[in-house]
Amino acid sequence: MLWILSVQFLIQNVTNVDGGRHHNRIKKQKSEISPELAPADSPGEPPAVPADSPLTQPGNISSTSCIFNVSDYGAIGDGETDDTEAFKAAWKEACRVENGVVLVPSDQVFLITSTIFSGPCEPGLILQVDGMLMPPDGPDSWPESDSTKQWLVFYNLDGFTFTGAGTIEGNGQKWWDLPCKPHKGPNGKTLPGPCYSPALIRFFMSSNLVVTGLRIQNSPQFHVKFDGCQGVLIDSVSISSPKLSPNTDGIHIENTKSVGIYNSVIGNGDDCISIGPGCSDVEIEAVTCGPSHGISIGSLGVHNSHACVSNISVRNVFIKDSDNGLRIKTWQGGTGSVTGITFENIQMENVRNSVIIDQYYCLTKACRNETSAVYLSDVAYRNIKGTYDVRSPPIHFACSDTIACTNITMSEVELLPYEGVLVDDPFCWNAYGLQETLTIPPIDCLQEGMPQSLEESSLLGC
Ligand SMILES: *[C@@H]1O[C@H](CO)[C@@H](O)[C@H](O)[C@H]1NC(C)=O
Ligand SMILES: *[C@@H]1O[C@H](CO)[C@@H](O)[C@H](O)[C@H]1NC(C)=O
Ligand SMILES: *[C@@H]1O[C@H](CO)[C@@H](O)[C@H](O)[C@H]1NC(C)=O
Ligand SMILES: *[C@@H]1O[C@H](CO)[C@@H](O)[C@H](O)[C@H]1NC(C)=O
Ligand SMILES: *[C@@H]1O[C@H](CO)[C@@H](O)[C@H](O)[C@H]1NC(C)=O
Repeated sequence: MLWILSVQFLIQNVTNVDGGRHHNRIKKQKSEISPELAPADSPGEPPAVPADSPLTQPGNISSTSCIFNVSDYGAIGDGETDDTEAFKAAWKEACRVENGVVLVPSDQVFLITSTIFSGPCEPGLILQVDGMLMPPDGPDSWPESDSTKQWLVFYNLDGFTFTGAGTIEGNGQKWWDLPCKPHKGPNGKTLPGPCYSPALIRFFMSSNLVVTGLRIQNSPQFHVKFDGCQGVLIDSVSISSPKLSPNTDGIHIENTKSVGIYNSVIGNGDDCISIGPGCSDVEIEAVTCGPSHGISIGSLGVHNSHACVSNISVRNVFIKDSDNGLRIKTWQGGTGSVTGITFENIQMENVRNSVIIDQYYCLTKACRNETSAVYLSDVAYRNIKGTYDVRSPPIHFACSDTIACTNITMSEVELLPYEGVLVDDPFCWNAYGLQETLTIPPIDCLQEGMPQSLEESSLLGC
């Protein structure tokens, strides 16, 4: 095994030495890149839908559907009565028939407590929310016996659609104001201790899922989370929370494969989309983020864990007023790899840390440097344009001391200050790759070719 790897390294080294020679030649390619997707004069508009976007129709109620209206199961929909039992009953019956639809009618507000909607169910099950669905209002109203880690859970389902013209309202404010949240304690301090707040919607151990059309807002914590799933399509969803709402990631995936996120608009207080360990084959297209903390791969490798992420493409995305743009973050001491990442046709507006790799991610500022790291390779940035917030350099590649990042491709990356002038030059540490065109601002610190030595062990196991 090691022998094969060494040979592969040799081959890669040879290829790269050759590539390195051409490094300084600026290839001005014909512009095959589409025009700006989200012009500055219409910042709220999502980028145009590419004609070949692999969309599927949102689940709709056809003549063969069997409708289970929650109102017929006793749901009151006055925004105060606990309608949980009615939802459970409607789910139970819809689950038993093919193409069952649990219908949450429009013009009413339904309150339910933390609930696990589980399968297995017959194929074609749909939960259609046309009205408003919400959890109890804050920690004081949360039933003590309920999990505070999550509200709606969809578990053990295959071929399930969550759709509708309605709104999932998270009632997050009282959770965001807990004294354990940043600056919400006495005198603007943050009280220590566990600070659980529920994720709004969690899909767990399920496959062939579709989420479309819904408006999802004000989650106490992550809005939509997928864990241990396979085959996920998210289309035409709107997610929103205030800029200062803590930990309100828009869409989070982990241990999930084969994911498409299309035509959606996300504004919140944390990552717009975050991709955790164990994800592969993820396509993100025609998404608008902002305000947010951008699109993030990571954090990976926490507590010396093993993390593998591969084949992620992010295309035709508009990121505005965000604390990060395109970010890959790993902790010191992890193992595994991040490979085959493409960021293409990204428009930025006033984005801090527009392009960032941080292999020293640490929440406490007390993390030691360690000898192992998650290996980053084959990361391409193509046609990344727009403006950055000058408080940080627009390009920052902080790779591990022991395991360099390799094969970073920069092509048509042009970032200008949103206001003022550049304070710091782009930063690189132990980062290898090539510029196909001249990057603006110039990034002289990206090293050509491949590093002398790579910890081969870091590549094993993905
Ligand atoms: C609803 O489904 C039918 C058949 O499955 C399809 O032809 C139609 O386009 C769908 N309508 C919408 C609005 O998705
Ligand atoms: C759902 O049921 C309620 C009560 O029976 C009814 O008023 C409402 O029209 C139904 N909604 C739909 C869309 O069928
Ligand atoms: C990469 O992921 C896409 C889906 O996003 C998939 O269609 C493609 O086959 C994957 N490529 C490889 C090499 O696995
Ligand atoms: C870890 O390594 C980086 C890069 O060599 C260095 O800048 C940083 O100061 C080190 N941190 C600690 C805590 O030693
Ligand atoms: C570098 O990464 C690109 C994808 O960004 C890939 O196509 C190419 O094969 C990689 N080169 C090497 C030498 O691994």
